[in-house]
Amino acid sequence: MNLKQTLDAALSTALDRASGESGCQALVAPAKNPQFGDYQANGVMALAKRLGRNPRELGAAVVAQFERDPLAARLADKLELAGPGFINIFLKAEFLGAELDALHEQRLMPPSAAPQTIVIDYSSPNLAKEMHVGHLRGTIIGDAIARTFDYLGHHLIRQNHFGDWGTQFGMLIAYMEELPRSGDLHTELSDLESFYRAAKQRFDADPAFATLARANVVKLQAGDPECLALWRRFIAISIEHCQALYDKLGITLGPEHIVPESFYNERLEPLVADLKTQGLLSESDGAECVFLDEFKNKNGEPLPVIVQKSDGGYLYATTDLAAIRYRCQELHAERVLYLVDARQSLHFQQVFAVARKAGYAPPECQLEHLSYGTMMGKDGKPFKTRSGDTIKLVDLCGESIERAHALVREKNPQLGDAEQRQVAATVGIAAVKYADLSKNRNSDYIFDWDTMLSFEGNTAPYLLYAYARIRSIFRRAGLDPDARYPISAPAQAEEKTLALKLLQFSETIETLAQDCLPNQLCLYLYELAGHFMKFYEACPVLKAEGKERDSRLGLCQLSARTLRQGLALLGIDTLEQM
Ligand code: ARG
Repeated sequence: MNLKQTLDAALSTALDRASGESGCQALVAPAKNPQFGDYQANGVMALAKRLGRNPRELGAAVVAQFERDPLAARLADKLELAGPGFINIFLKAEFLGAELDALHEQRLMPPSAAPQTIVIDYSSPNLAKEMHVGHLRGTIIGDAIARTFDYLGHHLIRQNHFGDWGTQFGMLIAYMEELPRSGDLHTELSDLESFYRAAKQRFDADPAFATLARANVVKLQAGDPECLALWRRFIAISIEHCQALYDKLGITLGPEHIVPESFYNERLEPLVADLKTQGLLSESDGAECVFLDEFKNKNGEPLPVIVQKSDGGYLYATTDLAAIRYRCQELHAERVLYLVDARQSLHFQQVFAVARKAGYAPPECQLEHLSYGTMMGKDGKPFKTRSGDTIKLVDLCGESIERAHALVREKNPQLGDAEQRQVAATVGIAAVKYADLSKNRNSDYIFDWDTMLSFEGNTAPYLLYAYARIRSIFRRAGLDPDARYPISAPAQAEEKTLALKLLQFSETIETLAQDCLPNQLCLYLYELAGHFMKFYEACPVLKAEGKERDSRLGLCQLSARTLRQGLALLGIDTLEQM
């Protein structure tokens, strides 16, 4: 149990005893202002209201009950009744010291006591085109969430739902067929974006080409070997592009996680047949549709989920239904997470509803669309290059590393050339990732080089610097950074604040696992680094003596470890020196 859960359990019991009710909720939360304690319990007022009792009286009874609990003496210095019935909790320094010291021999938090099978669908770009900034957010944020669930010991299944099927491939194959046979396809496809554009131009300009392209779609779906062979070659090269980017960004996706749209092809016909048997389908203009009462358009007319077009073709939604069925029934998922652009939210609401209705997703399986906003330029418009093209991710990473290099050269000229390069590579990638991770994924986010590469504020360079600085304390003093420095009760205010923050790591991660909002972890790390800096200014470490010195070195050590672990969950590597 983490600190918050321990307090919540103890206070809830006290609330039960004081009120004579059972299952009361103390609603313990970290205090906003240290003046009012370290945590506060907010549950008294609502309960008092429900029971028609005076909240301050009930609050006083809760405090009295808590003080009778043997745990109380160990945990808290005092409890204070405040305002209309808040209970402020002031923790004991000895307790904080002991809890922290125990962490030396443990993980920063235990693995989940109830591991789940969780499927996470993220990145999932369309292979017809080059992966661009639109997929960056889902890839980066999804990876942080995936790493967190891995760390917590869940059975996590990554699924990269590549868009490798669909009408565009008919056009691309037609264009490939026109290429001279002698040409090297790798070179032709070195820039997928221009290849796609050229094919599209042919498609728009030449009706004969367009007819060929459409015929290819039909052939492809019918399993024509020649079409399939060309399609496979195209897909393979496109996947290579994605993988190169994942490697560059340090994304934990590999070939083993690819379960693309085409994987579901053979499951579509049985799925539609099953929907039909269940009586869920109605025909509308020749198309097979599911109508659900909860989905209506502006005029109150029912909004269908089309699962098969009049020409027999299947759709994006059909594949997603098959994917839910597969994930729930074959992978036995208890939770399925989708990191997909907010613009697809209606799609997911509908598909989830149909999957429930058809029994593909049992009620106990959670389906969650973790949507994210658009990446905007500084001008507040969707992020594009100066010429108005979408920005390629490879170029974006390259530019970030270059900018970081200039920065490192300026900040730390005495660093060797090779080291400068290595630092720049880490900082450049970290900056791109952290800038995205540190914003709430639900809002649009403004991409700005200057803020993301700044050494001040909630940025990657700031955190990486904080970590390197702590490590340098040990290095410069010639101390073993991995020796065991016993932590005792924090005496000074800055020490206590830091100690408390360090103990709140696990609460932060628990919340992250619930809400899947990595920005909460970013904020935590930023505050932790800030508390560390204040502690380091106010409390001499190397000049202290005996137990105090050990304890402060222990705090340094745990601060570095927590920063490194937190950044690792975000997919960011640390540097020993920068
Ligand atoms: N390929 C889709 C796109 O780029 C995203 C797929 C997301 N996953 C899913 N199961 N629909 O828009």
